[in-house]
Amino acid sequence: MKRFHEPVLGECALEFLNPTGSGLYLDGTVGGGGHTRKILERCPECCVLAVDRDAEAISEAKLALAEFDSRVEFLHQRFDHVPQEAQVLKAGLDGALLDLGVSSHQIDRDDRGFAFRKGVALDMRMDRSEEQNASHFLAEKGEEELAQAFRDFGEERKAKRLAREIVKRRSSGPLQTSDDLVAALSVSLGRSPSARDKARIFQAVRIAVNEELEALKLALPAIREVMNEKAVMVVISYHSLEDRLVKNAFRDWSSDCLCPPELPLCTCRGRSLGKVLTKRPIMPSEREVVINPRARSARLRAWRRAA
Ligand SMILES: C[S@@+](CC[C@H](N)C(=O)[O-])C[C@H]1O[C@@H](n2cnc3c(N)ncnc32)[C@H](O)[C@@H]1O
Repeated sequence: MKRFHEPVLGECALEFLNPTGSGLYLDGTVGGGGHTRKILERCPECCVLAVDRDAEAISEAKLALAEFDSRVEFLHQRFDHVPQEAQVLKAGLDGALLDLGVSSHQIDRDDRGFAFRKGVALDMRMDRSEEQNASHFLAEKGEEELAQAFRDFGEERKAKRLAREIVKRRSSGPLQTSDDLVAALSVSLGRSPSARDKARIFQAVRIAVNEELEALKLALPAIREVMNEKAVMVVISYHSLEDRLVKNAFRDWSSDCLCPPELPLCTCRGRSLGKVLTKRPIMPSEREVVINPRARSARLRAWRRAA
């Protein structure tokens, strides 16, 4: 019998989504299909629009979810483009889930170029039909832009030094493998980088190459607009900047007043669009982290559209 891994904060996401009736739910990051499976199993008449920007994830999820064939529509697309393109959304969504970041499949496969294991070619594109991979990014971006990515997305204190080292090295040829990037990192740190150091820098390059924050920023209001009354949006993020975007968006949508803070009196007479369901982000239990160490940085937030 095929075994399925438990998706990150799977039960918690399901509790908030609470799929019922013949509702339509968006899984904007279907990956291996774990969360979608939970929705379909919990609710025998629900349908899921299962989206991923990675064509391999879509193929994998199709196989994993074959038994639910008639209730899942698959779409190879960036989640921020879905609301304007998916015909099936005309009737509105009864819930939406984004489980951000990379999948185990992407990290575990050397040919996807996400990992810092020795000899891995730098790629990191979630959608392999896109032109810019990690090697191109490191070859083409200016020193300041590289430094900003390492600082903002990797919280690297020696970001400038690392960017300068990359620019120096690439004058004799592009950085092509994980070893090339790790070698530049060793010089900038002045010591052998730990696994944590490497993980932060590789994550920074991945976020930049895939424009992950830009996609999230566009997706949140676009998805909200196609949600039906009382529909819940759940977002699981793995990076503090992603979590901040989600937190601020949910807070703004839940506020009655949308006037700029410098105005002494409210003039907009606004009405909140909905309600934050998670005062604080929900994190996985210690037990979940032991079973799945990749869950350790997960933060779940949920928001419900007003009736
Ligand atoms: C953490 S995995 C999702 C795992 C999934 N929830 C499961 O249970 O198997 C994240 C997935 O989101 C996809 N992804 C990330 N950003 C995306 C975006 N902007 N649009 C669509 N898919 C995206 C990745 O390709 C990856 O397959």
